[in-house]
Amino acid sequence: MSSVAERLARHPRAALGHWPTPLEPAHRLEADLRPAGRLWLKRDDCSGLAGGGNKTRKLEYLLGSALAWGCTGVVTFGAVQSNHARQTAAACARLDLTCDLVLVRTVARDDDHYRRSGNRLLDDLLGATVHEVADDDEAFTELAGLVAAAEAEGRSLYTIGPGGSDPVGTLGYVSGALELAGQVEARGLDVGRVVVAASTAGTAAGLILGLAAAGLDAVVDVACVYHDAALTAAAIRDLLTATAALIEMEVPGDDRWTITDANLGPGYGIPTEAGQAAITRLARTEGVLLDPVYTGKAFAHLLASLGSGAGDDPRDVDRRDVVFVHTGGLPGLFAYTPTL
Ligand SMILES: Cc1ncc(COP(=O)(O)O)c(C=O)c1O
Repeated sequence: MSSVAERLARHPRAALGHWPTPLEPAHRLEADLRPAGRLWLKRDDCSGLAGGGNKTRKLEYLLGSALAWGCTGVVTFGAVQSNHARQTAAACARLDLTCDLVLVRTVARDDDHYRRSGNRLLDDLLGATVHEVADDDEAFTELAGLVAAAEAEGRSLYTIGPGGSDPVGTLGYVSGALELAGQVEARGLDVGRVVVAASTAGTAAGLILGLAAAGLDAVVDVACVYHDAALTAAAIRDLLTATAALIEMEVPGDDRWTITDANLGPGYGIPTEAGQAAITRLARTEGVLLDPVYTGKAFAHLLASLGSGAGDDPRDVDRRDVVFVHTGGLPGLFAYTPTL
């Protein structure tokens, strides 16, 4: 029987990122918090594609598939400040594919920073064609028009759903988890928990699958930043089943992950005080930048779970090491200038 890594290698993959991303200790934060275990940052914000972030891993498999199908362009979706859209634009530029971004005005922000700066500025710089729409209905109408126009011209478009979280995209984080497990093993670390933000859930699902495949005895601790825990858990379960089938592995059990929406706050794209405090704290201890929509909220969850520190607080759930997967999002800071 082949290994999961071998079965993964059968899927087409486009080279887009700088791998492995670093696994770094958070020394100063540790000195401040004094948790029982050690704290590590898995720096997927340093993935190397136009500002970096978690979408690079998914796009390697998604665009590998697009090229294998002979597609000449890509269409994808996201919020106006989508990191996924920006990374898709960059990947398409690199691979000489056309890129249409259908961006939905999901977040109720109308200031110039949100509408024009951050990821939205970069989409233009990277040469994508942006179609801003009011809601999902308009997005589907736009998609139908784009596909029909491409067909009429003899071009074929590869459609990527929001966040790139289909089973093919999720393979990117199966691969990312194998990479992380290799780093953990090589350094002889005792990791009990891996914390990650979830919106469309492919990152979390891929991590759960890959860590299980690697036999790493660590729980993936999922912090919801988009839907609530029930909806996000359902999305994770669907992706676990469909992606496990693609790489012929068993679906990991429920004991391999936990989920919380305690730090979601009022909703997707609405910054929270705890998230802002987490951004400032990591910036001023480690010189590492989080974002207000995803990683700030997930890091706020991590900080809350560590209690007051000293390793003897009952809220410090960890006696073993904790890894925070830094999924990127830096351009979002500029989009939220007035709030920050
Ligand atoms: C910076 C950042 N972190 C985390 C996520 C969540 O990843 P996923 O959509 O796979 O749950 C996203 C994507 O939406 C993101 O852009």
